[in-house]
Amino acid sequence: MTELAIAEDRLQALLVELDEYPERHAPPQAWPRLTAAVTSCWRVIQELEEEEVFEASEAWRARFHPWFLQAPCIRRAYEKPLGYAGDFGVMDLGYRNLPEAETPMGNLLHGWFSTALRGSTAVRARRRWIGLEMQRHAAYSSGLWRAMSLASGSSWELRDLVHESWLLHRAKMTCLDQDPRALQAAKDGLAEAQAKYGRKLDATFIRQSVREVIRGGAASLPEQDFVYSLGLYDYLPRAPAKLLTTVLAGQLGPGGRLIIGNYLDDHDTQPILELVMDWFLIGRSPEQILGLAGDLNREFSARVQIDSTGSIGFLMVDRASVTSA
Ligand SMILES: C[S@@+](CC[C@H](N)C(=O)[O-])C[C@H]1O[C@@H](n2cnc3c(N)ncnc32)[C@H](O)[C@@H]1O
Repeated sequence: MTELAIAEDRLQALLVELDEYPERHAPPQAWPRLTAAVTSCWRVIQELEEEEVFEASEAWRARFHPWFLQAPCIRRAYEKPLGYAGDFGVMDLGYRNLPEAETPMGNLLHGWFSTALRGSTAVRARRRWIGLEMQRHAAYSSGLWRAMSLASGSSWELRDLVHESWLLHRAKMTCLDQDPRALQAAKDGLAEAQAKYGRKLDATFIRQSVREVIRGGAASLPEQDFVYSLGLYDYLPRAPAKLLTTVLAGQLGPGGRLIIGNYLDDHDTQPILELVMDWFLIGRSPEQILGLAGDLNREFSARVQIDSTGSIGFLMVDRASVTSA
C-alpha cells in the first residue's frame, strides 16, 4: 500500500465516522483530526513527481468531494462560478458563518473550515481589526478622514462602521474592486446596514483593477489618510506587489497609513485551500512582506505586524506627518 493510499484511507474512515454522527455530536477531537488527515494527504501528494501531482489531486477530489462539497463555502471556492477563487460570494459565506448547508455533514464541514483552521479565523478577524485600526488612526486627527480600500470585495467593515463606530461622521470611504458584482454586493450590504441602524456612511464604489491603479487610475482621487488592501496581495507576484505598494503609499497624505495583508508562508489553511478547493495563494515570510516596501523613500517607515492567529502578516507603512525639505 502506498503512503498516499494509507493517508486517504485514514481520511475516509474519519469522514465516514463524522457522517454517522448527528449534528453537534462529532467525535472527540474531530476537527484537529480532520485537519491532520487532509494535511497528510496534501503533504504526500506534494512529494510526488511533478507530473503526478495533478492526477493525484484530481483523483483525491473525485473520492472526497462528495463530502467536502456539501459545505457551501467550500463548494463555491472550488467551483469558482465567477471564474476566480475567493470571490465575494465565498467571502460572504465565511463572514456570515451560518449553518447554510443542506446537510448536517455540510454544516459540520463548514464549521471545521471556518473555525478550526487558524487561517480562516484570521480572515474573519481582520475585518474587525481593520475597523479598529481605522479608528485608532483617525483618533489622532479631526475633521474629514479619507480612506480607500483596494480589492474591497463586499466591504463588510463598512457595515461595521455604520453599526458600531463614531468614525462614521468623519469618514469618506472609497472602495475599488475589479469586479462590479463585488461592488454591488458592498453597496447592497451597506444600504441594508444604513436602513437597519438609521445612519449614513459616505462611501463611493469604483470599478478599477490593480493594473489600472498601477497605471495611475487612482491618481485622480484626493490624498487619503488611510489606504488598505486585504485579500489581494496573496495573488500578486513580487514585482507587481512591490510596484503597487509604492503606488498606494503615494496616495497617502502627510501622516497617512497604508496597511496591506498577506498570508504568511506557513499558514495552516494552505493544504485545505490547495487540495480541497484548488485555490492557490502566495504566502510570504514577514521579511518578504517587509521587502514589498523596499522602493519607498525616506518619507515612509514600514514594519510588519502578525495577526493574533499567526496566519497573516500586515505591512504597515506610515508617511511622515511633516515632509522634510
Ligand atoms: C479575497 S477577496 C477580498 C475582499 C475584501 N478585501 C475582504 O477582505 O473581504 C478578493 C477581492 O479582490 C478582487 N480582485 C482580485 N484581483 C483583483 C485585481 N487585479 N484588481 C482589483 N481587484 C481584484 C476580487 O474581485 C475580490 O473582490
